[in-house]
Amino acid sequence: MASGKKFRIACIGAGNVGASAAQYCAEMELGEVILTDILEGFPQGKALDLSEAGPIRGYGSMVTGTNDYADIAGADVCIVTAGLARKPGMTRLDLLEKNGKIISGIAENIAKQAPDSTVIIVTNPLDVMAYVAFQKLGFPKERVVGMAGCLDSARLRCFVAMELGVNMKNVDTMVLGSHGDDMVPLPEYTTVSGIPITKLMPEDRIAALMERTRKGGGEIVALLKTGSAYYAPGASAARMAQAIIRDEKQLLPCSTLLNGEYGQKDVFLGVPVILGAEGVEKIIELELTDAQQDELNKSAGEVQTGIDGLREVGVL
Ligand code: APR
Repeated sequence: MASGKKFRIACIGAGNVGASAAQYCAEMELGEVILTDILEGFPQGKALDLSEAGPIRGYGSMVTGTNDYADIAGADVCIVTAGLARKPGMTRLDLLEKNGKIISGIAENIAKQAPDSTVIIVTNPLDVMAYVAFQKLGFPKERVVGMAGCLDSARLRCFVAMELGVNMKNVDTMVLGSHGDDMVPLPEYTTVSGIPITKLMPEDRIAALMERTRKGGGEIVALLKTGSAYYAPGASAARMAQAIIRDEKQLLPCSTLLNGEYGQKDVFLGVPVILGAEGVEKIIELELTDAQQDELNKSAGEVQTGIDGLREVGVL
C-alpha cells in the first residue's frame, strides 16, 4: 500500500465488539472508520458519539455510520463482528447456521464493494466463520484472517502479569488452536522480558493460568451476566487492522487457512503468522510436543465438525 494513502476501515456489526474496534481504530488514527449494521440509526448514533469524543481524546479520524454497503466501497480492511449471540434453547448448530448465513451475506457485499480488502473475522465461532467468509468471498487465503490468538494471548499475558506483579508489556506469549475451550496455550513460549515462565512460577500455577486463559471468555460472561467481552476483543481486532494498514510485519497468532501446516488441511486454525500489508504473509511452523500436537488436532477436529455441520444444512 502506498504511503500517504488515506485508509478506510469498515467495521461490519456496530455492536459492543464492533464499536470498541472502531473506537481503538479511531484513537490510533488508522484511517476513516465506517460502522455498518442492519439496525437503522444504530451505527450512525455510535459513529457520531465516537466522532464527538475525538476533540477530547485528541484524534481527528472521521467515523461514520451506515446501513448501506455502498458506503464501504474501497475499504482496505473490513472487521466483521456482525452476528447473534447464543440464546437459551438454541443449539450450537442453530447458532452456527444463523451466523453462517449472516457471514455469507456480508461476504457477498464485501466482495462487491471492497474486493481488494483484507477481512478480519471476529464473529464466533470464529474459525468456522472465517472458513465461511473465505469460501464466499473468493479472496486469496492471505486476505481472510480470524481474530482469536491475539485476544487469547492478551488474556494470558494479563494473567501472568497479575500473578507475578510485573508489567504486562514485559510478558510475551503464544496461543495456538481454535478460539474456545480447545485453544492450546504454550508455556515454553511464554516469557517475561525473555525469561520463560517455567523459571518464574511452579508448574501448578502455570497450569492454572493456562486453564484460566482457555476459559477467559466464559469468565467474563459469568461476571457480566448479560453479554460478553468486548474491550479486549475490539482491541485485538484493531491491533490486527493496524498491522495490516501500517505493514508492520507483526508476528501474531491469528486464525488462517492451513494447507498442510501443522498437519492440518482445509481448516482455519490459530497459528503464528506474519501480518502485514498483504494480510497473512507467512505462517510460522513451530515444533510441538506430541501432547501439544494432539491438542491441536483435537482443536482442528472441533472446527471441522462445525464446517461439516454447515455443509449438512446447506450454508457451505
Ligand atoms: N449485517 C450487519 N450487522 C448485523 C447483521 C447483519 N446481517 N446481523 C446482526 N448484525 C449486528 C447486530 O445488529 C448487532 O448490532 O451485529 C451486531 C452484534 O453486536 P452485539 O450483539 O453487541 O454482539 P458483540 O458483543 O459485539 O459480539 C459480536 O463478536 O466476539 C464475537 O462472540 C462475539 O460473535 C459475537 C461477535
